[in-house]
Amino acid sequence: MQQTVDRLEELGYLEAEYRRPGSSLVVLYGRRRLGKTHILRHFLQGKPGLYYLATEEAEAENVRGFQAQVASFIGSALLAKGSGFGWGDLFDAIREHDPATKKVIVVDEFQYLGKTNRAFPSVLQKIWDERLKEANIMLILCGSLITMMHSQTLAYDSPLYGRRTGQIRLRQIPFRHYHEFFSHRACCRAPSTLCRNGRRTEVHRSFSQWGRHLPRDSGEHSHADKFPL
Ligand SMILES: Nc1ncnc2c1ncn2[C@@H]1O[C@H](COP(=O)(O)OP(=O)(O)O)[C@@H](O)[C@H]1O
Ligand SMILES: [Mg+2]
Repeated sequence: MQQTVDRLEELGYLEAEYRRPGSSLVVLYGRRRLGKTHILRHFLQGKPGLYYLATEEAEAENVRGFQAQVASFIGSALLAKGSGFGWGDLFDAIREHDPATKKVIVVDEFQYLGKTNRAFPSVLQKIWDERLKEANIMLILCGSLITMMHSQTLAYDSPLYGRRTGQIRLRQIPFRHYHEFFSHRACCRAPSTLCRNGRRTEVHRSFSQWGRHLPRDSGEHSHADKFPL
């Protein structure tokens, strides 16, 4: 995986939540391209768990996609091939797998699930209350559409209100860290490649490639503005 610039505070918080005994439900949100998925993939490395990227497709497609991730995580060919499973069955399968070990479930672009099925937050509330709350599970709901994430997970009238154990609103990485994006790559390797025949050089190419990967946003400061509740 690509190296991670900054984000020590956010990763530290997620690690602490993971080490805490009992279940955790964390909401991570913020605008696109700020590095939410990057942080979650970094955090998941070396931990038992699964990452699911929700889509705007019909709910049945999302159930199938999630089922494939669960089947691969628990190593069940039966689950991989089976049909007719619902969300509850799939979360049960994760919960029952190696119950002594804390497992991480990441649902990225969570808001799409509520967009395709408005009742989804209440479905998840029931699953959380009846199956996950007492289990060895860390559930992370991540999303980019801030208003939808707010109404589906954080707002007082959301069925999930009061369930979360923490939330992170991701902000832009501060400018002082930007040079680290370049020092992690070989893009600054040979000054001699800088100005060759006045043409676009290796360095320019590397920088412009990196430009695509830089989290872009307004001048907000980076910090998780809310951690434990
Ligand atoms: N802290 C970071 N260190 C290194 N690369 C990062 C970091 N944050 C984001 N990136 C890179 O920036 C791009 C956008 O990040 P991504 O995680 O997809 O954003 P989001 O999920 O918030 O839309 C990706 O290529 C990602 O690898
Ligand atoms: Mg993302």
